[in-house]
Amino acid sequence: MKVLLTGGAGYIGSHTAVELINAGHEAIVADNFANSSPEATKRVEQITGKSVPLYELDVCDKAALEKLFAAERPDAVIHLAGLKAVGESVAKPVLYYRNNIDSTLSLLEVMEEYGCNRLIFSSSATVYGAPDTLPITEESKAGGCTNPYGWTKYMIERIIEGAAVANKNLSAVLLRYFNPVGAHESGLIGEKPNGIPNNLMPYICKVAGGELKELSVFGNDYNTHDGTGVRDYIHVVDLAKGHVAALGYCAENSGTEIFNLGTGIGYSVLDMVNAFERANGVPVAHRIAPRRPGDIDACYADPSKAARLLGWKAEKNLDDMCRDSWTWQKNCLAGK
Ligand code: UD1
Repeated sequence: MKVLLTGGAGYIGSHTAVELINAGHEAIVADNFANSSPEATKRVEQITGKSVPLYELDVCDKAALEKLFAAERPDAVIHLAGLKAVGESVAKPVLYYRNNIDSTLSLLEVMEEYGCNRLIFSSSATVYGAPDTLPITEESKAGGCTNPYGWTKYMIERIIEGAAVANKNLSAVLLRYFNPVGAHESGLIGEKPNGIPNNLMPYICKVAGGELKELSVFGNDYNTHDGTGVRDYIHVVDLAKGHVAALGYCAENSGTEIFNLGTGIGYSVLDMVNAFERANGVPVAHRIAPRRPGDIDACYADPSKAARLLGWKAEKNLDDMCRDSWTWQKNCLAGK
């Protein structure tokens, strides 16, 4: 299939483009480079040996999107474009709602105009808010998000569901990611956060590389095995393969289906620090700090629905996640 990736030059998009091509699909990337660079797509081409058409555009710009659809006629879209910084979304909620929702609306309109009926949306476990029970299944209560970023994901899910009710030809898959980490094993693509990272793994990498002094472990009095927050970290290459599996599902079904993409295993912040030190033989200076507002004790997936209906399961382990994150970080430090 010919697959358009909106936000395809970003962290998850570039890994997904590689896995799509590896599975025999064609990838087209649209990105405004707000938080990414064309270099990532060049590297996707380097890894796969295939050329990837790259369109610099904002998905909110419907006319630009129409031009792309007229030229490329994609069979399916993986919609990853969007603003994603939790803290920034609290400071600039209107920007987040405007950008993330407008872009999705123009995408849905253009898809319908061009008869493109397969859509995979990059959602997040953030839509579950503070879960009542663990592990989290797709039937667990959603909503109750703690920030505008999370609400945009929740609202877009409902918009896509509604569009698929009205348009019986539309087949949509909503993928709720847990905590993506790691990088491609080639060390050529990975996550490049702007400024000081908010997320745990990029922060650990910068401490290990000497760019940041120490990691603040946000709270050690949570109701978890060692008191630090527990999350379901998933290797980005596994996550990318989940999109390929979802594409196959989309092609054979209609309506909207929701899938958790996680490993089903929860690791604490200290588990992550220890695993990183062990896997890479480097120290990660850290100290216990106060809790970060809005954080929850624990969050991990029941990924069995994706195993059952998509035939997909995460295969990489914590060592792989730590090793590949570090390889990428070292390459970035070396200017590669
Ligand atoms: C966060 C977002 C979530 C988003 C996800 C993207 C919040 C409340 N949630 O999830 O909406 O989809 O990122 O990956 O921001 N930690 C530290 N020190 C640090 C950084 C993090 O101890 O410097 C801890 C956190 O307290 C948490 C764990 O590490 O227990 C993971 O944090 P993070 O990587 O930011 O992810 P989430 O908070 O799960």
